[in-house]
Amino acid sequence: MSTPIDLHRPVQGDVIELILADHDLFEDLLRRMRNSHEERAALREAFATLHVAHARAEELHVLPAFRRRADSVGAHEVEHGEEEHAEGHEALLALMELKGTDTQAFDDALEELSAVVSHHLVEEELTLLNPARDELGERQRGDIGAAFAAERNARIDAGPVTLDQLREIVDEAREEGKLDDDEEE
Ligand SMILES: [Fe+2]
Ligand SMILES: [Fe+2]
Repeated sequence: MSTPIDLHRPVQGDVIELILADHDLFEDLLRRMRNSHEERAALREAFATLHVAHARAEELHVLPAFRRRADSVGAHEVEHGEEEHAEGHEALLALMELKGTDTQAFDDALEELSAVVSHHLVEEELTLLNPARDELGERQRGDIGAAFAAERNARIDAGPVTLDQLREIVDEAREEGKLDDDEEE
């Protein structure tokens, strides 16, 4: 069964533009999910699939490449980015675990997910995309973009993310210490 919502399949482009296009998609899916007349279950599944694919593609191909090539992106920025992906997955899991989509619990979990994701998008655009604009050439951004897109698309094409897969991702992140609840910012 494929996701009925179009998540697009760009195959090339400047990595900054590709990432921003996904960020727009995240915001659009969240906004539509806030509408109680929308197909919330389908939107939730599409959001989850995109969130996992986008985060993994960044972790595998974007963060390491930015760290190697941009002086102002260091181990701290990379680690912090991964922690925020884990927090996004955790908030997403809370939403995915809910059976009903017309409940106060759904609204509450969606509010939390929206807050966690918007925080990450803002921070990533300020602390990773701006240094990449300043310090990476067009050719490098294109090469990283192609690797990002290939990874992202392959994961989306593998099918919608299931609840069990998401649980595993969150458990793994917790074991790796990326979800230490007492750590701020
Ligand atoms: Fe991103
Ligand atoms: Fe990210």
